[in-house]
Amino acid sequence: MSDNLIVETRNLTKTYGKFTAVNSLNLRIEEGEVFGLLGPNGAGKTTTILMLMGFCEPTSGSVLVNGYNPLREPIKVKSIVGYMPEKIGFYDDMTARENLEYTGRLNGLRGSSLKARIDELFEVVGLRDRANQPVGTFSHGMKQRLGIADVMIKRPKIAILDEPTSGIDPEGTDQVLDLIKTMAQQKVTVIISSHLLHQLQKVCTGVGIFSRGQLIATGSVDKLGREALRKGHYHIILPIAQLADRVREEINRIPGVRSIDSVADSTVVAADDDISAELGRAVLEATGLKLQMKVEEFELEDIYKQYFKGS
Ligand SMILES: Nc1ncnc2c1ncn2[C@@H]1O[C@H](COP(=O)(O)OP(=O)(O)O)[C@@H](O)[C@H]1O
Ligand SMILES: [Mg+2]
Repeated sequence: MSDNLIVETRNLTKTYGKFTAVNSLNLRIEEGEVFGLLGPNGAGKTTTILMLMGFCEPTSGSVLVNGYNPLREPIKVKSIVGYMPEKIGFYDDMTARENLEYTGRLNGLRGSSLKARIDELFEVVGLRDRANQPVGTFSHGMKQRLGIADVMIKRPKIAILDEPTSGIDPEGTDQVLDLIKTMAQQKVTVIISSHLLHQLQKVCTGVGIFSRGQLIATGSVDKLGREALRKGHYHIILPIAQLADRVREEINRIPGVRSIDSVADSTVVAADDDISAELGRAVLEATGLKLQMKVEEFELEDIYKQYFKGS
């Protein structure tokens, strides 16, 4: 067992009547990770988060957050966790600054240190020019960024963000993802739930895939890719439509090559690993040409589709 587990659940279960929303979940998240809880709507992500926060009592099983039991030590958990719910509640008729001041005071900040922290955060989330406007005038993306400032105000050890990118435009999404990277650089462990996968691939070090209350796969994106797709998840694209037979033969001799296909005006070599160096050498030997190659890795989206095929 690792010493650095910051979240650990054991057989964590939540039932509502006969319905099981979270089913015997064993989640292990290491300190410093950006961990994605991924799964379609209704998979049990929010229920899991609520149990991590101590807002919802497990039916059975256990949860530890930084070693604390959220039901028995709710204040300790809340003091180190910054939580952004799916529907962030701000006071719409108060300005962005007043909203952050309110949260800051709840977390024990006062006077000049409160002001300095808020100014710093407005800078980080790119809302300095909007600080004195009522939150009611903000776009959804701006509210999400303000939500991140709100979470960061107390310098949490863990940030839990429920669907932070849902319903915002691509530009807003990128801004939120950049902020998540900033949090990770500041050594905050970040847990994000989402049903939007390719976005999270950019920021997550680990993911857990949820389906109907169960964790059906967990690990690094890379490991999940290997397990789900098993083979051929590297695509090396050569800028030639047709390869001479002897070049094909050379390529086929490279260990790990799965297939060679012509696609539009290029040739796609699928392989178990990034074999672009060997491929370059084979083409150079056979043709005397040095080719520019593009290597594509699998997308989390593909992995996810593989898991949910037929479900
Ligand atoms: N308070 C509740 N009472 C009854 N069913 C609930 C309650 N909260 C959540 N559920 C059900 O549990 C399942 C998981 O919900 P949720 O955790 O919100 O999923 P997700 O966040 O992955 O979309 C859903 O089917 C939802 O309808
Ligand atoms: Mg949810």
